[in-house]
Parts: sequence; C-alpha cells; structure tokens
Amino acid sequence: MNSFELNKIAGAVLAGALAVVVVNAVADIAVSPSFPEETAYAIDTGEADATASTATAAVEEGPSLGVLLASADVSKGEKVFKKCGACHTVDEGGANKIGPNLYGVLNRAKGAVDGFSYSSALIEKGGDWSYESLDAFLKKPKEYIKGTKMSFNGLKKPTDRADLIGYLRTLGKDDVPLPAAN
Ligand code: HEC
Repeated sequence: MNSFELNKIAGAVLAGALAVVVVNAVADIAVSPSFPEETAYAIDTGEADATASTATAAVEEGPSLGVLLASADVSKGEKVFKKCGACHTVDEGGANKIGPNLYGVLNRAKGAVDGFSYSSALIEKGGDWSYESLDAFLKKPKEYIKGTKMSFNGLKKPTDRADLIGYLRTLGKDDVPLPAAN
C-alpha cells in the first residue's frame, strides 16, 4: 500500500463519518418533536370567570339600592333617560312609542298601559314595578324577563340605575317610600 492509497481509504472513512453526522442531523430536525415551553393557546379552565364573578359579587356587595336611591341624582337620572327616550315617553298621558309610556311607572302593575301590546313574557311576569324589580329589569332586561321585546342591553352601573329610578319616581310617584337605606 502506498501513501496515496492510504489517503484514499482515510478519505473514504472520513466521508462516511461525515455522511452519518449529516444524516443524523437532518433526521433530528425532521423527526425529533420539539415542545414549546408554554402552551401556545390558553385552555379556558373557567378560572378567569371565577375571578370575574368574584369581582361582580364585590360590586354587588356595594351600597344597597336603598342607599343609592337615598342619594340618587335626579338630574343625572334625567340624562341617563336619554337612552330610553327613543322608545319611551314620560309625560302624563304621553304616547306609546316602541315602548309604553312610563309616567308613574313606579308601583304600577307590569304591562298596564292601555293600548300597548306587551309581550306575553312581560304580562306573565306579573306584579308591580317596585324599586327592586325596576332595578333588576334595567340591569339586564332580557335576563329579568326572558322573552321581553324591550331591546335594550341594560345599565351596568348601579348608580346609573338608581339615578334613573330616582328620576322616574319624580314622575307622579314621589310619594312611594324609598327602600330602607341599610
Ligand atoms: C329599543 C326600544 C327601547 C329602549 C331603548 C328602552 N325600552 Fe323599555 N320597553 C321597550 C318595549 C318594547 C317594552 C315592552 C316590553 C315587553 O312587552 O316585553 C318596554 C318596557 C319597559 C318597561 C315596562 C313598562 C310596563 O308598563 O310594564 C319599563 C319600566 C321600561 N321599558 C323602562 C325602560 C327604561 C328606563 C329604559 C332606558 C334605560 C328603556 N326602557 C329603554 C322598548 C325600549
């Protein structure tokens, strides 16, 4: 064997080794699964909801309706009523629009305006519009009366509802005693 042949053999061995390394590397990239450290999408475990409802509960544990009504700002309530004015009049004997006239609605029986065609859901709910039921209805109409045809999302802020109910109270029903403020 001369050195030329030795070189050829050594070269072949090296080339073989190199081929193995390259094939391994390619196979690694192609096959080996790689796991990201964090999941790319969050699975909704409902925990966020739990904290959200805790937050809502905290809000609901705020001042009671009686306390809010006792300090209701009637002129603010009149401004909040602009959200209702497209569908409701509030003057005595006022016309029904998309919704019934709301003059004296406090303590009035639900669905009592003559000539307005209420949903059967509202009629079936029954009872009078007390401070509490108005507050619940205005918070989320569709939740308080499933099937109501009042297309209004509701007023989230307890103070907005109290100011508004305080304003409605001035319309012919200011003698209805406020709920206890405790
Ligand atoms: C898009 C129109 C619309 C808006 C906005 C709207 N309402 Fe109504 N409202 C209605 C309709 C329609 C009804 C009748 C619901 C039914 O029969 O189910 C109704 C019913 C009511 C009733 C029951 C009255 C009764 O005689 O029993 C009250 C109280 C009321 N709305 C208050 C409000 C207040 C306060 C607002 C503003 C925060 C408001 N609504 C916003 C359409 C509306």
